[in-house]
Amino acid sequence: MDEGDLAELCMMHNDPRVMATLGGIRSDDETRKYLADNADHWSRYGFGVWSLRDRGGRFAGRAGIRHLDLDGIDEVELLYSFMPEFWGAGMATEIAEALLDIGFREHGLQNIVAYTLTDHRASRRVMEKVGFQLESERDIKGYPCALYRLQAAAFRKPI
Ligand SMILES: CC(C)(COP(=O)(O)OP(=O)(O)OC[C@H]1O[C@@H](n2cnc3c(N)ncnc32)[C@H](O)[C@@H]1OP(=O)(O)O)[C@@H](O)C(=O)NCCC(=O)NCCS
Repeated sequence: MDEGDLAELCMMHNDPRVMATLGGIRSDDETRKYLADNADHWSRYGFGVWSLRDRGGRFAGRAGIRHLDLDGIDEVELLYSFMPEFWGAGMATEIAEALLDIGFREHGLQNIVAYTLTDHRASRRVMEKVGFQLESERDIKGYPCALYRLQAAAFRKPI
């Protein structure tokens, strides 16, 4: 993901259907900062957030693995979000497995966390389908969330 994705990322961050489960819509300035922070993350760690496109080049969403400060503990989280026209086709599950493979096999991470609103059944289902175990239900960034964790040793290789 880079500056070339700005317009489409702003479109996504202004879509209330997508952002309802991501803390609400974001201003274009917040999206510019998101892109800059993501570029810094890539330079520092060699991984981060990707923009996702279909075979025709149409923007589908964003997903990645990135560091997360959770109560002062440095974790790596898995994240994924798609434009509504791409929902319900198994894409989040597919990209989650691909990202876990990158995190565990290419970067040697020992475990990866993922979290979502406690009542976000679709995202929880994705996490459970790829093997995450529920660790706790707790507030994260001011929202009631379900926090999941997957150990590298428990990750099943994608088919
Ligand atoms: C959440 C989101 C990523 C799911 O993406 P997706 O590509 O539709 O997910 P998948 O198709 O891979 O899997 C969704 C699963 O949840 C299930 N599901 C969907 N809605 C559900 C609901 N209301 N209750 C229970 N399960 C539900 C689906 O049936 C599917 O499970 P199945 O394969 O066993 O049938 C997508 O809706 C999205 O981008 N939403 C907006 C942004 C967002 O919330 N991002 C995640 C923040 S943590």
